[in-house]
Amino acid sequence: MTPTRIYFSEMKSRQPYGSIFSVVKRKGLFPVASQVLTFIKHALAEANSISIEHVKIHLKRLPKDFDRFKIVHLSDLHHSPFTKIDYIEKVIDISNQLRPDMFILTGDYVSHEVEYITPLAKALSHLKAHYGTYACLGNHDHWTDAELITKELQKSGIKLLINEGFYFSLNDSRIWLCGVDDYMVGKAHLKAALKGSKEEDFKLLLSHNPQILRFAAYHGVDLMLSGHTHGGQIRLKTERKLLPRRLKSGLYRYRETQVYITRGIGTVVVPMRYQCPPEISLLELCSA
Ligand SMILES: [Fe+2]
Repeated sequence: MTPTRIYFSEMKSRQPYGSIFSVVKRKGLFPVASQVLTFIKHALAEANSISIEHVKIHLKRLPKDFDRFKIVHLSDLHHSPFTKIDYIEKVIDISNQLRPDMFILTGDYVSHEVEYITPLAKALSHLKAHYGTYACLGNHDHWTDAELITKELQKSGIKLLINEGFYFSLNDSRIWLCGVDDYMVGKAHLKAALKGSKEEDFKLLLSHNPQILRFAAYHGVDLMLSGHTHGGQIRLKTERKLLPRRLKSGLYRYRETQVYITRGIGTVVVPMRYQCPPEISLLELCSA
């Protein structure tokens, strides 16, 4: 939060607040002002809460050895003046307690400030899963410093998948695990991410932006993990009617491809969330 600044004299700084108060009083706006203050209080508190979403995803082509494989999916951490490191450390601690087989991170590690990259990467080095942590980049990472973010995440033991993929093996089975760079900045190359895989392979794709869903379906991706939307961040009651078809959060299917979109952790524009709390996604893959 920006500290309050007083210019010239205390009296001068008080004048605007005094005039707002008198307008509110004169126009009889106390009930409205009270509702606005209540909304702000709740929205600030909600942004500092956390919810764990345990979702079972049934997948037709999932190899049997991957049945009940647990992934903790985190996205949009947005370490910034809005989302402090002690809050992120608590999220990491809770995520480790869920004991996933693998962590997946889908971008937007910071918002705009370069100085937040290294502390965030250090915090993420504490994620502990038997099969490690895989990640892709988001639009805010490019708008900040994608090269530095990549370097710092790699130093923390996180494997970046930027328009690339590989066979991830478990016992006698394998899946194609891949990731694309960010779609919004024009760097997503799905064909490059799938290069080396076969049509019959089960394909798990990391893509910060869920907008490539149809393209992913066309190329035979089974499951895509995304963030970017923040679930809307502030959800008003009428919103669903206004935007019924937009991909926001949760599990969706398009043809044979499913996408899980997490609401993410941090915030942008305002340090608030409303009817859309930050989310740790515990995803359990199930053979259908
Ligand atoms: Fe974001």
